[in-house]
Amino acid sequence: MENNQDTKKAKPYVDANGVIVERMRPPAPEPAPRMNLSDALLARQQHEIVARLESAVVSIVGAESTQALPDAVTAYFRSYRASPLTDNTGGSQFNDGLLLFVLARLLAPRRIIESGTHRGFSSWLLRHACPDAELLSFDIDHSQLALRAEGASYHLCDWTEHDLTSSADDNTLIFFDDHISHARRIMEASARGFRHLLFDDNFPVTTLYATGGVPVPTVAMLMDSSLQGGEELSWTRNNKRYRYRVDADRLIGARRLISRAVGLPDVTDLTEYRSPSRMTYVELLEDRGNAL
Ligand SMILES: C[S@@+](CC[C@H](N)C(=O)[O-])C[C@H]1O[C@@H](n2cnc3c(N)ncnc32)[C@H](O)[C@@H]1O
Repeated sequence: MENNQDTKKAKPYVDANGVIVERMRPPAPEPAPRMNLSDALLARQQHEIVARLESAVVSIVGAESTQALPDAVTAYFRSYRASPLTDNTGGSQFNDGLLLFVLARLLAPRRIIESGTHRGFSSWLLRHACPDAELLSFDIDHSQLALRAEGASYHLCDWTEHDLTSSADDNTLIFFDDHISHARRIMEASARGFRHLLFDDNFPVTTLYATGGVPVPTVAMLMDSSLQGGEELSWTRNNKRYRYRVDADRLIGARRLISRAVGLPDVTDLTEYRSPSRMTYVELLEDRGNAL
């Protein structure tokens, strides 16, 4: 009986909607379900993504560097499909990966520091976005690490425990994807002389339930002038209730270090990959804070 079913399943069939469904043999896990688009449709989708990202990207990297945006988007699609990691549960999915890859490629930093390695997918993408950059990735747990990018160094500690004193410069991009308070990371980065930061999970105060372990205060909360120190916030997620009292010192201390914050646009309706990410670029003021 089982054998018969297997044989049946292996054949292409037409489903109730008239769609021909063909199982791939051997079953090939893929990063995400996807359309196998013709070149023309793929170009159309990438064109829509470029149009969506353009104005935010111009404001971050400038109009001249933005000319490379279409190529960066095309290169991301290629890299994503080539990734040997087919399951990145708990880490970046298609849309976050797109924003990370494109911004890193256009900023073209000499050094990239990542906090939050997880399975290694985002550092692998960063390596493909910036093949020549020095790449350091930090995590306090390497039990999930499955993919190592060529030439990257993986550190089993918080980034503050690693000596970077001689290496701070204006040509370093730091990607914080570790669910640690954005305010804390901003104060640490500023105190260590770094200015160009990229944050995942930048949720506003009204949607803190969108992710587990929300990195409060987030950048969005820092930029929210209506938020008062002492205010108690409460939310639930996955049968857990969270409560957090807004710390005025932390809010003000981190806020005053920010020169500008640019949220990257949501592309969910263009790709239909659904994972809230709220990726945000933050540039710190040149003056170093001593807010730690
Ligand atoms: C959302 S995952 C990172 C996903 C990864 N960047 C990606 O896109 O595939 C968050 C990671 O942060 C790590 N983490 C937690 N605390 C940390 C810390 N203090 N420093 C660095 N990483 C930390 C967790 O162990 C976890 O692996």
